[in-house]
Amino acid sequence: MTTYEADFSEPDGYMNFASIGPPGRRVAAALAEIVAAVSHPSGDVPPLVMGRYEAALATLGRFVGAAPEQVTVVPSTSAGLFQVAFGLLSAGGNVVVPAHEFPANLYPWLRSAEAGGPEVRRVEVPDGRVTAGVLAAAVDADTRAIAVSLVDYATGFRVDLAALRELAGDALLVVDAIQALGAIRVGLSPADVVVAGGQKWMRAGWGAGLMAVSSRAFDRLAPTLTGWWGVEDAFDFVTPPLHAPRADADRFQEGSPNVFGAVALAAAIDVIEAVGVAAVEAAVLERSGLVAELAAAAGAEVRTPWRHETERAGIVTLRMPGEDAAATVARLAAEGFVVSERSGWVRVSPHASTSIDAVEALAAVLGAVRR
Ligand SMILES: Cc1ncc(COP(=O)(O)O)c(C=O)c1O
Repeated sequence: MTTYEADFSEPDGYMNFASIGPPGRRVAAALAEIVAAVSHPSGDVPPLVMGRYEAALATLGRFVGAAPEQVTVVPSTSAGLFQVAFGLLSAGGNVVVPAHEFPANLYPWLRSAEAGGPEVRRVEVPDGRVTAGVLAAAVDADTRAIAVSLVDYATGFRVDLAALRELAGDALLVVDAIQALGAIRVGLSPADVVVAGGQKWMRAGWGAGLMAVSSRAFDRLAPTLTGWWGVEDAFDFVTPPLHAPRADADRFQEGSPNVFGAVALAAAIDVIEAVGVAAVEAAVLERSGLVAELAAAAGAEVRTPWRHETERAGIVTLRMPGEDAAATVARLAAEGFVVSERSGWVRVSPHASTSIDAVEALAAVLGAVRR
């Protein structure tokens, strides 16, 4: 893991990757390099930046097991989900989504429904276990999409995508992977759409996320939000719009793509691939597992909706008996630990660069509250 850790310099008490992942040296260098290149161009700028953009898309595709034509860069997780939700605007039927999803995976569907799109079926999942069994009651022959977070932002529960694929059948399986990508291996298959902003576990900064799209999704999604960049012969300004949508995933662009963001994402992937995504995942699971174990030993109530290792990722939520979660967060902050409060729980989210010593020290501070 030393190659991974060596790229980063956040304080060791920083365990808030489910909120924001501080970028490392490689991302900073890649951004500085492309800014310098366009600041002092030796010729025209578009060929220079487009070469970098294409190379970045190839890296993004490889990272999620997709062809370069199946991936694009979106401004945020939400923006990618809006593309999908409005791509289904005229599809009729319904979309099934867990009711407790992060709002980024609710607003696009609800806005689309307001505009005449599919009915939104919000499924209550009281124990946080988003399984095919619990969603099945809402799925029927008119279901156009099932939309879930791969890892839940609040509980840390990781869904079984293979089981959800089976449940979805021919409907689209749409995955918000922002709480997984960069920490846990993520593939486009068996989903139809995978979208994840780069600002958390990827550590690529804001303004760019990865979106990967299956051929089924290409067939189903109308180009409702496709703008000038997303069409064939975009630079043919003689033939008036509407042009046909592009054959590749850049059809999901409203305008010029975020080339700088794509370069940052690709650099972030280089850092992960230098040690291998499996090694990063193992380190994340080790640290989050240790948080759960040591916090429980320190007297915390730890929320563990998972029954198998495959059902958890980098997020652990807990609370100390008799102590408000916000007070615990403040007490940890005073000792140099950065974590978040979410709906009355303390959310701890270490990455592979977090030291085991720091996890042990956090648990010691947690335990110090016991009276
Ligand atoms: C599950 C989930 N989806 C999406 C987001 C963010 O969405 P966006 O990239 O659109 O800001 C977050 C957190 O901010 C999240 O936890």
